[in-house]
Amino acid sequence: MYTKPVNWLTIGDILAEDIIIDHEVIFTAGTVITLKKILKLQSLEIAYVKVSSSPFATANYQKQTNIFPDSIAQDFYNFLIKNNKNQRYSILLKDNEDFQFITNYAFLNMNESVVNLLSALRSWDIYSYKHVLDVLVIAVQWMRYLDMTVSADDCYGLLLHDIGKIKVPRSILIKNQRLTTEEYECIKMHTENGEYILKSLSFPNIVCDMAKFHHVRFDGTGYPKINADVLDIRIKILMIVDVFSALTLDRPYRKAYSFEDGLYILKTEEDGFDQDLLQQFINFIKYNMEKVPQR
Ligand SMILES: [Fe+2]
Ligand SMILES: [Fe+2]
Repeated sequence: MYTKPVNWLTIGDILAEDIIIDHEVIFTAGTVITLKKILKLQSLEIAYVKVSSSPFATANYQKQTNIFPDSIAQDFYNFLIKNNKNQRYSILLKDNEDFQFITNYAFLNMNESVVNLLSALRSWDIYSYKHVLDVLVIAVQWMRYLDMTVSADDCYGLLLHDIGKIKVPRSILIKNQRLTTEEYECIKMHTENGEYILKSLSFPNIVCDMAKFHHVRFDGTGYPKINADVLDIRIKILMIVDVFSALTLDRPYRKAYSFEDGLYILKTEEDGFDQDLLQQFINFIKYNMEKVPQR
């Protein structure tokens, strides 16, 4: 039996002792750890547990389950655990079906080009990499809440919307001071660069368009300057989720905003977004926040 930090738990670890809080048994000894259970332990602010496996053993995910077939998926799993600050993913992912959908659907369909591009983004700009994984979780859950069909192309578009950043100098991406006009213009190019990269790899139009148009705004303040009304609903969804994710994740130059503050800031900029969709997004986040188990 070993003591293991909850953040080090891996799928397949087995609890060696009951977890009891306020006389309530949360998990019994012998429980096999899943991603959902790790997030639950985090939400209960439990830092350490006793497990029957070695703390240095690495679970072989692929032998136990087919959910995580490659290194990007492994990253995704680690990402969900390590970034569950303020119960972020406990709020967004409610039950096993949610986890199954996100992990199976997003990753079993992932092709080699997507994996290679995400790997490139990961090594170039870790913040953008985390952000695109986060955008995937939020947008897919919201689309399901709206009863929309989520296709593999939708997932690719969400994951690759910022891929053009691999052509932006890293010194600009990580700069924690005010950007010069030239630097800002350079960052803005990530939309066109993304479209160029995805087109040259023959991704479908919707995937290329999600990269090219996710910074368009209905009030004309975004880029490129086009009429936002004509854009596909998936791009309008991405516009909102993109900003919400960026606001509510830590950045090198500021701490993350809470979900409440993120929604408030979005609301102050509502003219930039499809207002019906924005209201539905606010409803979706609030609905999920109300449902998260409170202690
Ligand atoms: Fe972007
Ligand atoms: Fe983004």
